[in-house]
Amino acid sequence: MSLLERTEKSLADHFDALVPPQTPPRLAAAMRHAVFSNGARVRPQLCTAVALACGDDAPALSDAMGSAIEIMHAASLVHDDMPAFDNADTRRGQPTVHKAFGEPLALLTGDALIVLAYQVLAHAGAQHPQRLGAVIRNLSAGVGVPSGIVAGQAWECEARADLSEYQRAKTGALFVAATCGGALAAGADPQPWTPLGAFLGEAYQVADDIRDVAGQAQAMGKPVGQDALHGRPSAAQSLGLAGAVAYFQQLMDQAVDSIPACGARELLSQVVRRESERLVPTSMCEAVGQPYRHLQSAPLTSPQGSGHAVA
Ligand code: IPE
Ligand code: IPE
Ligand code: MG
Ligand code: MG
Repeated sequence: MSLLERTEKSLADHFDALVPPQTPPRLAAAMRHAVFSNGARVRPQLCTAVALACGDDAPALSDAMGSAIEIMHAASLVHDDMPAFDNADTRRGQPTVHKAFGEPLALLTGDALIVLAYQVLAHAGAQHPQRLGAVIRNLSAGVGVPSGIVAGQAWECEARADLSEYQRAKTGALFVAATCGGALAAGADPQPWTPLGAFLGEAYQVADDIRDVAGQAQAMGKPVGQDALHGRPSAAQSLGLAGAVAYFQQLMDQAVDSIPACGARELLSQVVRRESERLVPTSMCEAVGQPYRHLQSAPLTSPQGSGHAVA
């Protein structure tokens, strides 16, 4: 089974088990709309790939970890799209949840998905009580305060924010939770997997900033030009488009170099390379005047050292 097939099966199985027919039908439909709408599923695939690299001796727990992370991601997007945040009409080429179901149900959908993510872990963790505390703390770090998604979104409400701190929290932290979660679910030390999640997560948000300026709404399935419209800190605005593409390439190089020596190194390198081309394709590099180069080795530096101050 491919990483993607395993991800989809786990999400469908958990959803069917934990969102039963007694659920208010429009809430259940809105939750389904948020989770099953053609997301790239990069975070759970990353989590599973790391679990495999660590022996994957408890596959039900690593599947649950990946599903919980993807469900949290879906919840964050539902709330992020609402009028109080980015006020977006489309997501993944479809109406956003508040457009399709109204604002009250969108708020409740995000809430229900956050709870569902913990239910998924509680369900699978019952077989592995000695690992449950660590996987719950790992998920919470990726989502809560001081430096998870919620903290990242909250920097948008402050007068000043450091661009890298903002991006690491709003996007990077859940990638770190994905790589470390794969290790923890397999009973392994998560620490060696932190840099991969951190570099990849920051690269992912830098790519999103580039695509917000240089991408096309139809191809991306969501509106563009949002960062300028809402005055959000953005790598494209801070570094210029060519500078942001160069920074993205550097982060992707660092992501590949940070993969610990293990049997799944090639599988993980492939995931990173595939994502690199999907996120910022060759044609987009050329369009902004930054020559495309294939991922190559770069010296590993700490993700802590790359902050860009923004007003
Ligand atoms: C979108 O994430 C939001 C960001 C953190 C940049 P993805 O690009 O992973 O979105 P989906 O899940 O594939 O729609
Ligand atoms: C990432 O921020 C989304 C969350 C952390 C919830 P953006 O607002 O930049 O992402 P998109 O562009 O809406 O997917
Ligand atoms: Mg946003
Ligand atoms: Mg948004």
